[in-house]
Order: sequence, then structure tokens, then C-alpha cells
Amino acid sequence: MSRKPRQRAARERRRSRNAYPKERTSTPQPGPLPSPAISLKDVTRTYGHGDAAVHALNGVSIDFGPGTWTAVMGPSGSGKSTLLHCAAGLERVDSGRVLVDGTDITHASDADLTALRRGRIGFVFQSYNLLGSLTAEENVALPLKLARAPWTPADVRRALDEVGLSGRTGHRPRQLSGGQQQRVAIARAIVTRPSVLFADEPTGALDSTSAAGVLDLLRDLADRGQTIVMVTHDPAAAAHADATVFLRDGAFTGRADGADARAIADRLLTLEASPCGA
Ligand SMILES: Nc1ncnc2c1ncn2[C@@H]1O[C@H](COP(=O)(O)OP(=O)(O)OP(=O)(O)O)[C@@H](O)[C@H]1O
Ligand SMILES: [Mg+2]
Repeated sequence: MSRKPRQRAARERRRSRNAYPKERTSTPQPGPLPSPAISLKDVTRTYGHGDAAVHALNGVSIDFGPGTWTAVMGPSGSGKSTLLHCAAGLERVDSGRVLVDGTDITHASDADLTALRRGRIGFVFQSYNLLGSLTAEENVALPLKLARAPWTPADVRRALDEVGLSGRTGHRPRQLSGGQQQRVAIARAIVTRPSVLFADEPTGALDSTSAAGVLDLLRDLADRGQTIVMVTHDPAAAAHADATVFLRDGAFTGRADGADARAIADRLLTLEASPCGA
């Protein structure tokens, strides 16, 4: 299917199945909602002290439904990366609570947080963060080795197959294009079958063709039930997701379900144009 009809079909699917339609409260939902894969409750995170204090998150409450793909948008410095890091247990919150699959991780020990990140969280960065001396296969195997859970080489090959790179297993990062490297990074993030895949600007360093390939891949993963939370600056990338949430000055300012790129861009422009604190 070419990209446009594919995006249209994806939008229709999203409209029909979004689990957290906050802006469509008039439509009754049949039965109870599944519990969120990630839940942040009144989360605050401040860097620095006194006059130099930066309130990166200022009382954010937000749920990410299981099997949904949510884009997180907002002006630079609005707290998007901090939100992802706190939700993934990479950073601790100052107050509020963070729940992963219903388990409160707010006060988890460092050892428990490490185990959680290794087993239930996948993270993809804009800069891929692959180890240059290792092959694609070896990079993808790393989290399995670190998790110390039973695994086989077939698990690694399956993950590389899922991202369309079964023909590049022995290549090192420098032998791969940017888009291919990001797909290896995604294979590495999903090889442990995490509850949630977090991605911080995964297409930010890619040309439009490679970015489209990565977004199609994320769409396929979401359609197969993978929960995805993705920070992006690109409304066209956000339009691939099921929903977009907007941050401003460390606070949640709204949400759009199944919106197209133009509607998301308009919303973002309004957000950036409105005076601080409005
Ligand atoms: N480790 C840190 N120490 C001090 N301040 C920080 C730290 N990390 C983030 N900040 C500050 O917190 C605020 C939120 O940062 P964050 O990185 O979450 O923003 P962002 O929305 O991801 O921005 P961008 O779109 O530019 O990536 C910013 O003002 C930033 O300068
Ligand atoms: Mg950021």
C-alpha cells in the first residue's frame, strides 16, 4: 500500500480503537477501560535550586493506554524528554507517582528500577546510541545479555527481521545508513518484548524517506499491540500516532486523538504563540 492510503487506513483504525478519548467524552465507552501501561500522577521534577531552579515538570498527570501509540509534542524546553525519562524510570520524580503496568515505581530501589528498565522498558534515542565495535546482531543481543533472562540467537534474528534488517545482521553501525541504524536501535529496544517502547525524537536525525520507514515500522509495532510513547517536533510524524499530547512549561496542555499533520501543526503554533503561563 502506498504511504497516503496507508496513513488514511491507519487513521481510521486509530479513530475506531483509541482507548483514551479524553476529548470525546460524549461517546460512551463499552465496559471498563484497560489499566494504563504508564500512568503519571501529578509528577514534578525540578533541576537546580533557588533562583536557578527549572521546573521541568510541573504537576503532570497523564495516562498512556496499552497498545496505543502516543506522540508527545511541545516547544523546546517544555519538559518532553524529562517526561519520558521519568516515565521510563531513567530519572526519579520529586513528587507525584509513576506507575508501569499498574506497579508503582516511584520509590522503587535502584536495583528494581534497573531490572524494570531491562525487562519492561525499551528506549530509542535520536542518535541511535549503537556500539560501533559490535555488529547489528551483537548490538541487539546486548539487552538480552544484560537482563540475564534465557534467550536464543533466534530471538535476536526475529527482532532484526521485524525491523526489516535480516540481511544486515553482520554489519557494523558505520556500514549502515542512518535509517538502518535507527531500525537496529528499535530492534534492540523491542528484543526483550517490553511493555512500553519510548522514543525521543527517533526521526530527528533522519532524511524524510528514512523517517517514513521508521514511522511505518512503529505503526506496524503499534498495530501488533506495542505501547509506544514518542517525543517528536514533527507534526507529520505525530500524525502517524494514535494520539498527540501537548506540553507547555512542564505542564500537560491538551490532547488530540487521530488528528492529521495540519491540525497538529495548528495546535502547536497556537501553543507556541500564546504568552508564557497562558
Ligand atoms: N539535567 C538537567 N539539569 C538542569 N536542567 C535540565 C536538565 N535536564 C533538563 N533541564 C531543563 O529542564 C527543562 C526541560 O528540559 P527537557 O529536556 O525535558 O525539554 P524538551 O521539551 O525535551 O526540549 P527539547 O525539545 O529541546 O528536547 C529545560 O529548561 C532544560 O534546560
Ligand atoms: Mg528533548
